[in-house]
Amino acid sequence: MADRTNCSFVPVSLTDFAEAARAVVPPQVWDWVEGGSGTETTLAANRAALDRIAVLPRVLTGVEAPRTDAPLLGRTQAMPVAVAPMAYQKLVHPDGERELAAAARAAGVPYVSSTLSSTPIEEVAAVGAELWFQLYWLRDRGMVTELVDRAEAAGCTALVVTVDVPVLARRWRDLRNGFALPPHVTAANLPGGRDDLAHQGVPGVSAVAAHIGAVFTPTLSWADLEWLRGRTRLPLLVKGILDPRDAVLAAEVGAAGVIVSNHGGRQLDGAPGSADMLPEVVAAVGDRCEVLLDSGVRGGLDVLRALALGASGVLVGRPMLWALAVGGRAGADAALALLAAELRDALTLAGCVDPAAARELRTRIGG
Ligand SMILES: Cc1cc2nc3c(=O)[nH]c(=O)nc-3n(C[C@H](O)[C@H](O)[C@H](O)COP(=O)(O)O)c2cc1C
Repeated sequence: MADRTNCSFVPVSLTDFAEAARAVVPPQVWDWVEGGSGTETTLAANRAALDRIAVLPRVLTGVEAPRTDAPLLGRTQAMPVAVAPMAYQKLVHPDGERELAAAARAAGVPYVSSTLSSTPIEEVAAVGAELWFQLYWLRDRGMVTELVDRAEAAGCTALVVTVDVPVLARRWRDLRNGFALPPHVTAANLPGGRDDLAHQGVPGVSAVAAHIGAVFTPTLSWADLEWLRGRTRLPLLVKGILDPRDAVLAAEVGAAGVIVSNHGGRQLDGAPGSADMLPEVVAAVGDRCEVLLDSGVRGGLDVLRALALGASGVLVGRPMLWALAVGGRAGADAALALLAAELRDALTLAGCVDPAAARELRTRIGG
């Protein structure tokens, strides 16, 4: 791995990348990546919720080498995992989005490209990964339409509409740091989109939040999603669902799936750990749409836990940025290879021949 830490670094888990990343990124960028909103109660709840899920292994199933491939939105992936959409990846690596998308392509999993990418969607698409486009709803509907058209033209196979950011939550670390983007990092998909605001450092203010306040609409509604459903041929995933009633509404407007997520503890502080809500959401939607999970996933065991609770897959966020910061493409390759190895191991230990078998496992939710 092209290691930026200047020491021999042999990660054995995704969390090993965190400490190494902290050593190579500026402290304010570390806080932007790592931080949650407010007291970071929800950030902590994500791990606690996953750790409460005990999976009952099956034995004597005669499985030697389980398969990890699984369908997401009807398309087979090398494992039931996607790289979560994360804004401004050039903050942690000079060629952030392209390097991470290349690692996703090599690992055979989808890369979800953010509206707030620091590389334009067309350049990310040129890397050749399976691409899902994450849509933030802008105040200017013309720009929303344009982004959807660009995503379709670039060959994206799904649209991920993030619905938990009516405003950017107060993230204390960024407020204390007066966090602003450096000049070389821009919202590359939004030419003329008040990018200047994201670069103006003011003590007590997050410039990223100020920019988002100016360009995102807080008034997105189910009617808008219905409009989008009629406007695109791509399957829609609604990201940022916690209440089972909202999951049902998403299915009713024709979403192909929901992502149970609290944005990695970065939006409503005090929201539950996302894995806590997974069983209720799965029960509420039944087979009307797929259910994916993110927020706190840190390894193959967490993928097994999500599958056992009925999810069809997970998204992984921060660990991919840690790995990208540490080793660029090679770091991200190593992280995804570790995740695949851990998933194979977890499936074997649970007696599952493949991810579908994992969805038949039973769980105990402990205290
Ligand atoms: C630095 C950073 C930037 C993010 N940017 C976006 C984004 O642009 N769009 C989005 O839908 N979610 C964004 N998210 C949320 C992730 O997609 C995902 O929900 C979250 O990171 C999952 O939690 P995890 O980091 O604990 O895996 C971001 C998360 C982080 C850490």
